Amino acid sequence: MSLEITKVTARIGARVSGVDITRPLASEEVAAIREALNVHKALVFDAGDLDDAGQQAFARHFGDITTAHPTVPAVEGAPNVLPVDSERGRANHWHTDVTFVLNPPQATSLRSITVPPYGGETLIADTAGAYRDLPEPLRRLADTLWAEHTNDYDYAVPDEAIDEEKEAQRAEFTSITYRTAHPVVRVHPLTGERGLFIGGFAQRIVGLSAGESRKVLDLLQAYVTRPENVLRWRWSPNQLVLFDNRITQHYAIDNYDGLPRRLNRVTVAGDIPVGIEGKESYSIEGDASHYTPVTSVAA
Ligand SMILES: [Fe+2]
Repeated sequence: MSLEITKVTARIGARVSGVDITRPLASEEVAAIREALNVHKALVFDAGDLDDAGQQAFARHFGDITTAHPTVPAVEGAPNVLPVDSERGRANHWHTDVTFVLNPPQATSLRSITVPPYGGETLIADTAGAYRDLPEPLRRLADTLWAEHTNDYDYAVPDEAIDEEKEAQRAEFTSITYRTAHPVVRVHPLTGERGLFIGGFAQRIVGLSAGESRKVLDLLQAYVTRPENVLRWRWSPNQLVLFDNRITQHYAIDNYDGLPRRLNRVTVAGDIPVGIEGKESYSIEGDASHYTPVTSVAA
């Protein structure tokens, strides 16, 4: 095995070479990739001629995979593949994938199919670095907090900006309402590392008003988005990025003048988050069993 890991930034991101991800991986390769993911949190691979079936097979090395999304339809004929297409909207807000369900995906793979000639980068942030950067009094506060995550909120889009198509997409996205309470500080089950587990779907701090929640969330989120914690990945076609969805947030920059941009996403089913006192997340509303199995910690 000649797996090579090259860091992209000090805290987050590495390129992985010396492994052909279009073929079934040997168990040592899977273990080495998992170890690299634990350390670097986001890994970039050359995907060669990987197709949807190959992307699903790659993701399955790391655990059971989810269906495409709890409410958004899959790529036709590929029930586990979510199209991430500029035609269908822009994920230009900071989030961790699908945190409104009880057990969000543990890892997300994105494969580039169409890349705009400029822009279209994905930002991926290290939420453990953010936690470590908090001054001690804020860290102690964060340690005690829980947040309610939901898919049913306004996305900060002014009403006049919503046309009929966007309205229909929003209705689809929220066709099942989910609400889940997660610890604001999540302990990574494989590394024991602590990270801020908030992101765009976290709308309310348990026990605080909406206004107070916003202020506290903004205060903590500012540490997540510090440039030192962020990988800015400029895509080439036929690349695959695998990121640890338990300890990162991401943001798709809308800076390509509406030119075509298409990635396909496959996610690996996750475990139920656990806070620093060992308490697990709990569901308030919405059943996601059609979307994801609940997994125990996948090594
Ligand atoms: Fe996402």
